Amino acid sequence: MTNSRVSIVMGSASDWKIMEHCFNTLKEFGITADVNALSAHRTPAQACDLATQAKANGTQVIIGAAGGAAHLSGVLAGHTVLPVIGVPMPAWSLDGMDSLLSTVQMPKGVPVATVAIGKAGAINAAILAVQIMALSDDELAEKIVAYKKKMTADVLKANEELQQKLNK
Ligand code: RP5
Repeated sequence: MTNSRVSIVMGSASDWKIMEHCFNTLKEFGITADVNALSAHRTPAQACDLATQAKANGTQVIIGAAGGAAHLSGVLAGHTVLPVIGVPMPAWSLDGMDSLLSTVQMPKGVPVATVAIGKAGAINAAILAVQIMALSDDELAEKIVAYKKKMTADVLKANEELQQKLNK
């Protein structure tokens, strides 16, 4: 089921509209992720199998995304020693607060590195995964440095444009 360095597991195919931002951000760093829609409660056996086999299949980081009673990332983390990043989905109610709390509030011993709800979290999950892999990959480490430099330059440019507008 997985043979990429990053495995994205979503609770539903309906999460793709947000998680494609995660996939695309990874791609910007040259990482193609495996993507599966497997639920902790609707396909529990398959979700557990994926997490159990991920390390042997070459996966280095698992990114879980789910909404509502979002226990998927915690279940994946319970079946692997790999780092698991959790992305709370803004589901059908509560604006994703339910997803956030059920992803982040793991009892001690089984961490899920939880990022922001929705698109920002999806993108940050990809960047965090790259940062983890960059610890043992110089090429990725250089790409992270370049990414941060570009972000700084972009913000400074936008500020300069704002100042020019305000001073007109
Ligand atoms: C969760 O329920 C999924 O992760 C999704 O965010 C939410 C809704 O799923 P669907 O009803 O669209 O399949 O399990």
